[in-house]
Amino acid sequence: MTILTARAHAKVNLHLGVGDAREDGYHELVTVFQSLSLHDDLEVELLDQSTAEGSIVRSLSVTGLGAPAVPTTPDNLVWKAIDMATELHRSQGGAPLPMIDIRLRKGIPTAGGMAGGSADAAAALRVMGQMASISTADLLPLAARLGSDVPFTLLGGTMLGTGRGEQLVPLLSRGTYHWALALNSAGLSTPKVFHTLDDMRAARPDMARAGDIKELSAALLSGDPHEVAKYLANDLQAPALSLLPQLRRTLNAGETAGALAGVVSGSGPTVAFLCESAEQAVDVADYVLDTGVATSVAVAEGPAGGAELVG
Ligand code: C5P
Repeated sequence: MTILTARAHAKVNLHLGVGDAREDGYHELVTVFQSLSLHDDLEVELLDQSTAEGSIVRSLSVTGLGAPAVPTTPDNLVWKAIDMATELHRSQGGAPLPMIDIRLRKGIPTAGGMAGGSADAAAALRVMGQMASISTADLLPLAARLGSDVPFTLLGGTMLGTGRGEQLVPLLSRGTYHWALALNSAGLSTPKVFHTLDDMRAARPDMARAGDIKELSAALLSGDPHEVAKYLANDLQAPALSLLPQLRRTLNAGETAGALAGVVSGSGPTVAFLCESAEQAVDVADYVLDTGVATSVAVAEGPAGGAELVG
């Protein structure tokens, strides 16, 4: 029996500057991504039967954190990623591929602002890269079609993202950063958070904006988490707080516990606290959980890699 296992890493945005809405509904972003050790695992079993048409996916099952909220149908980004790569392979005259059963083990919160679904899709692309000999360069356009965060989760590390977030340039970063993560089972819809930001800006055109990334880039080069903490910024934090006001208490609790800084991760509701050490991250996570301002907590370090085959 052949099983391929791919690891999907979560991300946090150290900086998320959101511009105006474009014609296509997306917003121009200037963002700095960091991949985290927090991950999902995608196990793909290659069956004896192969097929030259239709989906190669026979089944998809999901276990672990928040599993009941994750679709196990062709709507799942994992399934879409497999179908898209299969189509590319067939369009290039590739041989019939084996049918597959997919088992996804979740460790990344669903709808948590940590690119869990995107990372799963990136892991699925890595598996297809192996099964159908597709290069990273050829996987990247598929990744961009699947979602704005999929290209970054494919590559990982520390990167500047522009456009929808899919145009990537590596950023120099020294050191390892320790995070405490406050998870919230409420979940937030990414489109809703972006729309709320548009509405807030329409009502208050002078609302503060995240600005440029000059200081953050210099701080990342220094490798000093105290410096990096000064420049964490997220334009989606204000709309996320307006949709889930209790996140303010979560932010306060982490800072009371001694975190260097806290920021809503992406479109939320996960709150990420940058800490000065792995030990402090555990202390902050414990405090936040005890205070009752998070559904669950996790610790992670970054930068990690991108989606990768393991084992
Ligand atoms: O690209 P993805 O499908 O992950 O994006 C989900 C939603 O987030 C989009 O439909 C859009 O509402 C919002 N979004 C945005 N601008 C971006 C990225 C995402 O408005 N740059």
